[in-house]
Amino acid sequence: DATDKGEFRHYMMKEIYEQPKVISACLDGRISETKVLTSCFGAESGFLKDIENVHIVACGTSYHAGMVAKYWIEDLAGLPCSVEVASEYRYRKVAVPKNTLFLTLSQSGETADTLAALRMAKELGYLTTLAICNVPSSTLVRESALTLLTNAGPEIGVASTKAFTTQLTALLITSVAIAVENGLSAEKEQELVQAMRSLPAYVSDALSQDAHIKVVADRFANKHNALFLGRGTMFPIALEGSLKLKEISYIHAEAYPAGELKHGPLALVDEDMPIIALVPHNDMLDKLKSNLQEVAARGGELYVFADKDTDLNNEENITFTEVPKVDSILEPIVHTIPLQLLSYHVAVVKGTDVDQPRNLAKSVTVE
Ligand code: AGP
Repeated sequence: DATDKGEFRHYMMKEIYEQPKVISACLDGRISETKVLTSCFGAESGFLKDIENVHIVACGTSYHAGMVAKYWIEDLAGLPCSVEVASEYRYRKVAVPKNTLFLTLSQSGETADTLAALRMAKELGYLTTLAICNVPSSTLVRESALTLLTNAGPEIGVASTKAFTTQLTALLITSVAIAVENGLSAEKEQELVQAMRSLPAYVSDALSQDAHIKVVADRFANKHNALFLGRGTMFPIALEGSLKLKEISYIHAEAYPAGELKHGPLALVDEDMPIIALVPHNDMLDKLKSNLQEVAARGGELYVFADKDTDLNNEENITFTEVPKVDSILEPIVHTIPLQLLSYHVAVVKGTDVDQPRNLAKSVTVE
């Protein structure tokens, strides 16, 4: 029952812990042992082969999910993909190339700017409109030509958690489905589907760091600022981590692609500025390590989230949190979990209203 907190003190924590289950529900019936089942887009899945471009529009956390999908769609399908916040998209002249898919992301399906963007897009000659949404009866679902439900179940905490990771799961399914029509080999598809099948178990593993993260959070609670760094798909996850911290703990947090450090934010780094680094295990690892050295050299206190094979560890000035080692396509999803736990525990230490943070509404239905 969604309205029962069960053993948890807050809905947010309950929803964080539901993630292995709801990610399974999102994958259920959408992948086989070897393939993405395109029937999940409904009877009209023929649109997949016609897509030449993708425009993704959303707000807040849902926008961050869209930013991850841009990396996946361009990497796996080789198609151009742009991502924009709905409140900007709806007030400008948008150039729509031939055969462009208009894709919205929304937990509630009632966000005013996202709905307005969809209504505008319907006049602009898109190939079709697809909503990735959590609420089957929502306006967004009703007004979109196609829907892929995230199946996260009701999300009550204002800070979005399970809605985000299921959006990413649904976007991964969608990205692979588009890629298959654009030359992705059956072998690679099978490899990606196998990775997806192991996702719920990896998310459970990531949750097992909860007690450690609670200790880390104690050290964090007296900070006034924080800087999140990531590269590649970890950059949108850094943005999402910083949004979570702002929303429920009221700590000012910024996120940057780590390569941008020298272009300005490095000036902020001193012993009072904690840096949260999301370390991917791919060809960007060495580049990120050198960004971390730049921070350490300026006395910055580093909180590193990485898998154990990255050779990073607790050292002076480095607090290490282990994240399960996974196929790089899954990294943005799995790395989200410790950041949710961090912001949750910081908020609890600070005594804020975790489920109902000040000034915020669960669904922004007015502009
Ligand atoms: C997330 O923690 C926020 N509360 C907020 O950014 C939210 O994601 C945004 O308002 C979009 O909502 P939607 O997904 O329901 O459209």
